[in-house]
Amino acid sequence: MTKFEINGKPVEVAVDPATPILWVVREQLGLNGTKFGCGIAQCGACTVHLEGKPIRSCSTPVSQAEGKSVSTIDGLKGEDGKLHRVQQAWIEAQVPQCGYCQSGQIMSAVALLEKNPNPSDEQINAAMAGNVCRCGMYGRIRKAIKMAAGIETSEHEAVEA
Ligand code: FES
Ligand code: FES
Repeated sequence: MTKFEINGKPVEVAVDPATPILWVVREQLGLNGTKFGCGIAQCGACTVHLEGKPIRSCSTPVSQAEGKSVSTIDGLKGEDGKLHRVQQAWIEAQVPQCGYCQSGQIMSAVALLEKNPNPSDEQINAAMAGNVCRCGMYGRIRKAIKMAAGIETSEHEAVEA
């Protein structure tokens, strides 16, 4: 048995300890918000938080979660049950295209802003470098992060992809 917390709730799973967290989250716990992209820690689609830090869940065995807390996009929320400010900014900046990379992008952005509430462009680029968007929405992702940080407003100007 591996015991850990998922989105604030204690769970126990009976799986091979080498099973990637991604499969435990999706298959055992039924939380499908986290996506499988490359499976080799190269795209970031599977990003979740382990003890508040972004990790690639496709390549992190569940044994590393023992006694720790894992957060997925399924449990992300803001105050009073509203959307998290990053999710809200994502909507306002109209970030998603196909949407496949988006839960990983949002989890990396949330972790960045928790660590650095006022990031520069360079810091955003560095923190988000492991999250690939095949639709090329990097400009909108950066804008949404700045909107969530309160650095930019949501005025409806043309946003470059
Ligand atoms: S699926 Fe995990 S990094 Fe691509
Ligand atoms: S929105 Fe399509 S891969 Fe990022």
